[in-house]
Amino acid sequence: MQQDKVKIKLSGVSETLLFCLWGRAQLSKKYSSLFYDAKAVELAEKIDYDFSTSEVPFEGIWLNISLKGNLPPFGLPALRAKKFDEKIKAYIAEHPCASVVNIGAGLDTTFYRVDNGTIQWYDLDLSAVIEIRRQLLSEPDRTTYIAESLFDPIWCKDIKHTEDGVFMVAGGVLPFFEESQVKQFFSMLADNFPGGEIIFDAPSKLNDGSGTWGDQFPPEQRDAMRAAWMEAFKDWWGKAPQDQKDKLNDMIATLKTPTKPKGKEWADLEAWWNQLNAEEIGEIWRGFRVSSDRYFGRWTLEDANEITKWDSRIAVIDQSPLFKDIPRDPSLSEEIRQFMDYSDKSGRLNIFQLRI
Ligand SMILES: C[S@@+](CC[C@H](N)C(=O)[O-])C[C@H]1O[C@@H](n2cnc3c(N)ncnc32)[C@H](O)[C@@H]1O
Repeated sequence: MQQDKVKIKLSGVSETLLFCLWGRAQLSKKYSSLFYDAKAVELAEKIDYDFSTSEVPFEGIWLNISLKGNLPPFGLPALRAKKFDEKIKAYIAEHPCASVVNIGAGLDTTFYRVDNGTIQWYDLDLSAVIEIRRQLLSEPDRTTYIAESLFDPIWCKDIKHTEDGVFMVAGGVLPFFEESQVKQFFSMLADNFPGGEIIFDAPSKLNDGSGTWGDQFPPEQRDAMRAAWMEAFKDWWGKAPQDQKDKLNDMIATLKTPTKPKGKEWADLEAWWNQLNAEEIGEIWRGFRVSSDRYFGRWTLEDANEITKWDSRIAVIDQSPLFKDIPRDPSLSEEIRQFMDYSDKSGRLNIFQLRI
């Protein structure tokens, strides 16, 4: 019941943890043969959060498309959890008493999926998030919550039981930051966890917003996606409070585009949007993303060897496209399978594994 749910108020990058949780819960409900996380489903149901009118206008629209349910690619990046599970399980099979550190953990529930009964687990996030985490999920045995910034070396001292190795996981975290911060982060890991390993995901430059919004879909899906986006936009406009609509209009006013809507109402926005060509949409898309405080793609990575050039103590173990080795299960629609193939072929989203 609604009144039993926990109201979540987060902002900035931290709010994006809800989208990740939502993605894992959606996948579990719709494609359980691919991925199943009972705890994620349970948690998503405990939360009172209106995904359709997220505080950042364009994210509300984005989430709205996902919520319509007929365009499933949006929950799919959560499949990184499946890839991460395999890597963690392989590591702890060799190092059964290892410490695993979940960096920027949000409301991630990987521990419950991979626990072997002997690992030590750490969930690290900012204090506002850890507070919510504690409210929803108490610390199980062998798990410690750490309320620190991932950039502050202080948390490294909290990782005990390092004799059987340290494995770090950072899902959906590093690309929100500047390259200089990510560089510093890796050298901090090399200073503190020599011999440890880390897995993380990062988009390539193709995902930094320089292309058009439609570029992330196979060409045959683009018209349908643009139409769906428009429908979701309209839906959002119908539901969003006035202050969010004002925020959106203010954002449009700052865009460096040759044309602007004639007025501030839905009909003006629709007419404006419909006459834009793909290049202009690309420019607008980029403008919105870059001005957002939760821009996933601020840091991009094509080739893991880049990081070894930053710090010679680090070595590459693996790099693979996000959906590689994920079975193209017959329960997945043709569109989803096309989307996964297209994403992998373009190298847009990758999973990286490094030895520190
Ligand atoms: C997209 S969410 C990913 C959450 C989780 N890894 C998952 O897959 O569900 C990004 C997470 O990074 C966390 N975060 C952002 N800045 C951080 C910082 N400086 N230190 C630690 N965590 C941070 C956010 O609070 C949020 O939980």
